[in-house]
Amino acid sequence: MRDILIPESIRGVAVDALSSRFDVVRLPELWKDPTALIAHIQSVRAIIVRNQTPVTSTLLAAAQELKVVGRAGVGLDNIDVDYASKAGILVTSTPDQNAISVAEISIGMMLALARSILNANYDTKDGRWSRQKFVGIELYGKTLGIVGAGKIGYLTAKRAQAFGMKILAYDPFLSQDNIYLSELNAELVELDELLTRADIVSCHLPATSRTIGLLGADHFKKMKPTAYFINTARGEVVREAELLQALKAKTIAGAALDVRATEPPEAGELELLPNVVLTPHIAAFTHEAQERVTKAVCEDVARVLEGKPAQNAVNGHLVSLKYCAQKK
Ligand code: MLT
Repeated sequence: MRDILIPESIRGVAVDALSSRFDVVRLPELWKDPTALIAHIQSVRAIIVRNQTPVTSTLLAAAQELKVVGRAGVGLDNIDVDYASKAGILVTSTPDQNAISVAEISIGMMLALARSILNANYDTKDGRWSRQKFVGIELYGKTLGIVGAGKIGYLTAKRAQAFGMKILAYDPFLSQDNIYLSELNAELVELDELLTRADIVSCHLPATSRTIGLLGADHFKKMKPTAYFINTARGEVVREAELLQALKAKTIAGAALDVRATEPPEAGELELLPNVVLTPHIAAFTHEAQERVTKAVCEDVARVLEGKPAQNAVNGHLVSLKYCAQKK
């Protein structure tokens, strides 16, 4: 029996430290091969994944010795947590460790769109000096609509406030007396109202059965023609073909997408539109966030293998009370 399988590219001092204490199998390309993944998972006690390994019921059913799935990140859409819970397998995540990085890139996307930074960059590097072509808008005084006001939505809004933006939030799980909304002086509104009033809509929804395919043509139609749409959360939440149509028809002014419905995406028309900024799911990819994420996931997996409670258990209440973090 081996201890820990890491079938994706997850590196750093925390992984090295884990390798000195446990028998760690590091195969960064393994996630691409479902058959080989099944062969490897059969004999390990733990697996650490990012978002590329599909931790499906089929994979978990093959894992005879598995005690814990450590998710190096926050989204759980690649893990069948229900199946894991029924099978008595603990799932841990890193719920806060990359939130600041995602919030910061969301602000970066706002500035990139508002000031055409990328188009101006390419234009200037092509030898032009087109000052009049790149007259942008200020964020100051504009309204930011946060769709999904969890940790990342909150941190994004807090930073946007420093630019003098007004904050609207849509989140069916919150009420107006939520302390974070109060601190931001944010107005909790229905989704349609947010879309109608916001100058920038920033999506921070996880991909769940309730949110997949949630945002489409009807929603983009409600936005201002001058408004921008940003998604640094999950691509599946947006009906991408309908967003493409809205951008081509100038129903909205532009979009910035760090995440896509399929990753990596097929090359398509979004890539050709000048009013679209695209990045390859790098919102959480800063040295600081990755160090925090890796440290947290490695520590939790080590704790579980040593019979201690995990700090960031997702299903600890369903698997076993002994795994629940001892919250102060
Ligand atoms: C997350 O869910 O933490 C980020 O999207 C990054 C990732 O999936 O690894």
